[in-house]
Amino acid sequence: MSGQTAAPVLQAGWKYALDNNHPVAASHHHGLTTLFDPFSTARTAALLDLTGRRCLEVGAGAGSYARWLAGQVGRNGEVLAIDIKPDLLAAEPDLAQLTVRRVDITDEEQLRVRVGGGWDLIHARLVLGHLPSRSTVLARLAQLLAPGGVLLVEDWYRASGDPVICAPSPEAAQAYRAFHTVQGRCFQEAGTDPTWSRRAYRSMREIGLVDVQTVIHGTAWPGGGTGCALIASSAAQLRPRLLAFGLTDEDLALLSELLNDPRLVLAGHLLYSTSGRRAA
Ligand SMILES: C[S@@+](CC[C@H](N)C(=O)[O-])C[C@H]1O[C@@H](n2cnc3c(N)ncnc32)[C@H](O)[C@@H]1O
Repeated sequence: MSGQTAAPVLQAGWKYALDNNHPVAASHHHGLTTLFDPFSTARTAALLDLTGRRCLEVGAGAGSYARWLAGQVGRNGEVLAIDIKPDLLAAEPDLAQLTVRRVDITDEEQLRVRVGGGWDLIHARLVLGHLPSRSTVLARLAQLLAPGGVLLVEDWYRASGDPVICAPSPEAAQAYRAFHTVQGRCFQEAGTDPTWSRRAYRSMREIGLVDVQTVIHGTAWPGGGTGCALIASSAAQLRPRLLAFGLTDEDLALLSELLNDPRLVLAGHLLYSTSGRRAA
């Protein structure tokens, strides 16, 4: 892999590196659900009793977590799931407690008019880290909490160390590392901050939230498993950018083989799950 040619190709209006309307988006979201819902739902259930609560799911993706919430809040609760591209969510069967709405969370007016306040739980997983205006959005979301309400923000921390735990050969390990570097540049060009997840703790305290806590979740991702499939679907969505940054079709074909090879084992991204409460 060359991966040397810097060729930033941000399109006008491109706010987010991936795309819910891409042909692989549904399987991408399925991967996120499989890898992270068991952790996120257990973490949420430990933070508050959801019965009868008003819950806001931000950047809901395909909506598995929002549907889980809808099953928890009961007849007197409600869940609003918002996304800039909510098409995958809208395709699912209706649930009485769940409302889906198209909202760009970087737009203050949309947050005020289409979302409003008084939420007992606001959850955003793998969303704020992608947005250049993440600090402002975090503060605005905190203002939408009811007194005593909980804000739970979960984002990956992309460690700077070697992502390869095991590989079929030194060349294969090197090929994966080269892809990993270029992929990181693609996300950063689109506004993603790979380390913000660690600063979420301090940011929550600075905006006045209390009981701030971070829990870190991580697993290894073997070739052929869900984590490697997630990387493959991310590579498919980023393909034009990866090529513009100097990778070749051959590099991406090799990557695809490697991600299906169980002899490859990667250090999966750590999910930093940070919660804070608005003082009652
Ligand atoms: C990586 S996905 C995470 C999906 C889901 N939260 C999960 O963890 O499974 C990021 C989601 O945030 C949405 N998103 C990105 N920018 C957004 C914005 N400005 N306003 C609302 N949603 C946004 C995307 O459309 C996508 O569904």
